[in-house]
Amino acid sequence: MSALIAPSLLAADFLHLEKDVRLVNEYADLFHMDVMDGRFVPNISFGFPVIDAVHSIATKPLDVHLMIRHPQAYIERFCKSGAYMLSFHLDATRDDPEPILGMILEQGVKPGLAINPNIPVEKLFPYLDICDFVLIMSVYAGFGGQAFIEDTYGRVERTREEIVSRGLSTHIEVDGGVSPKNASRLISAGADILVAGSSVFRAEDPAAAIAAMRG
Ligand code: DX5
Ligand code: ZN
Repeated sequence: MSALIAPSLLAADFLHLEKDVRLVNEYADLFHMDVMDGRFVPNISFGFPVIDAVHSIATKPLDVHLMIRHPQAYIERFCKSGAYMLSFHLDATRDDPEPILGMILEQGVKPGLAINPNIPVEKLFPYLDICDFVLIMSVYAGFGGQAFIEDTYGRVERTREEIVSRGLSTHIEVDGGVSPKNASRLISAGADILVAGSSVFRAEDPAAAIAAMRG
């Protein structure tokens, strides 16, 4: 069993972003890009200009993770920025997530639904058949470099069981505090995409860290 590794550019060196983009191009599978609005989460990260710039030299697909309120207002623009996968949080909108997932799909982009650690994974189950992937947060969305929450293994297992029992092909992405220490257990639990910020960009040997997590 193995997983795709998606380094989170939130932990990249923004003064030398091109260097870190080339690192992902060479060794990883996806670019994970965290968009924060200072409202859904208490932090602000980056937006369209940075995503457009990364897209212009990326040779691996962009996985854009929206931590913003009212995501439906920006779906089209993020799809035009070159997102290959686009996720938003279930509780970031009061509206039904189903048409929003549909909007993403209509743009030819893979739709994903994300949840924070305090939301039961069962809340994702009604949407598993219309999501290309679900993003199970293993820290509270908003900041890089937080400690991995151990409950995540069980949450991934329950979601994987549901996906298998219904014969679906939904992917499971895990995000937050992922490192070579917990990657293999996450893969055994059923994760197939691992997001890793600090453990890649702060590693002495980022390529080795990526290889160690892939499984
Ligand atoms: C947190 C972000 C994560 C974060 C991961 O809100 O969604 O993608 O960048 O960073 P690490 O791997 O350092 O926890
Ligand atoms: Zn993220």
